[in-house]
Amino acid sequence: MSIEQLAETARAMVAPGKGIIAIDESNATIKKRFDGVGVEDSEDNRRGYREMLLTTPKLGEYISGAILFDETLRQSTRAGVSFAKVMNDAGIIPGIKVDRGTQPLAGFPGEVVTEGLDGLRERLKEYYQLGARFAKWRAVINIGEEIPSGTCIEANSHALARYAALCQEQGLVPMVEPEVIMDGDHDIQTCYEVTEVTLRSLFDALYQHSVMLEGTILKASMVLPGSNSAERADVEEVAEATLMCLKSTVPAILPGIVFLSGGQSDEDATAHLDAMVRMGPNPWPLSFSYGRAMQSAALKLWAQDMQGNFARAQETVFSRARDNGRAALGEWIKAA
Ligand code: 13P
Repeated sequence: MSIEQLAETARAMVAPGKGIIAIDESNATIKKRFDGVGVEDSEDNRRGYREMLLTTPKLGEYISGAILFDETLRQSTRAGVSFAKVMNDAGIIPGIKVDRGTQPLAGFPGEVVTEGLDGLRERLKEYYQLGARFAKWRAVINIGEEIPSGTCIEANSHALARYAALCQEQGLVPMVEPEVIMDGDHDIQTCYEVTEVTLRSLFDALYQHSVMLEGTILKASMVLPGSNSAERADVEEVAEATLMCLKSTVPAILPGIVFLSGGQSDEDATAHLDAMVRMGPNPWPLSFSYGRAMQSAALKLWAQDMQGNFARAQETVFSRARDNGRAALGEWIKAA
């Protein structure tokens, strides 16, 4: 696979006014989401829910790609059309989560390392055959008393770099995601420092592993006070801190940065992205790769009456996509 093809895919992922919908919840995570709205966690309900999301009319106007879980990439609509085909027909690039989740980092209480490198080359070959053109790997960095450790950050950066190099070898754009977790009572400055050191370590590891940044997308967390912190940061403060942190750590050659929502409210996630784009010009396109901030309203509606609310749930997905697509242009208008 040539770097030009990878770079073209990467640019398409962050095309102006478009972003990514993350629907790559593992079976353990989607069970939690379904439990929260009283839906039975069965394979057919997971399939039906993802069908509702992916067949949202005109979704491709604001959505460039969707990240799927392994099971979903192998599934089809009720009418028997594979999800990969549905997406390609809608102009939505299929993506796939390829990490296998986190495990406790031995010797470092409270810290985790993401696993999934063994056999990854073969899995990537298959995912490419199934239609995937980008792949996500999420590292988790927790903030707490005396953590994160340098060891945890380095172990996760090393794994991210090895996965990214394998993706490029197999023709998939790596979407590298070092998520600095919002949980905790830390202040925004602590989040800034942890995010800064994490991104420095990540880009150093990508360099060491000869990963081509032109064919790589960063999925970043925003710089925020901890969710249990007494401190509140307004939209401008979050946008300024996040941009400053990214500008001082992320090479300008990267084709784009997309954000995760990480537990922020739908409106906060949109407002923060919009503010960062308005503060531009920035070195790279900024957009979204939201999971919860794209889905939560639609999931609630769909859960109340799967068939009866199907169309209304899809309208909600479309409206979240449009709001976030406008935010990616710095043109979002807050509802009165
Ligand atoms: P959230 O936007 O819900 O944080 O999910 C994005 C994601 O893919 C996390 O890995």
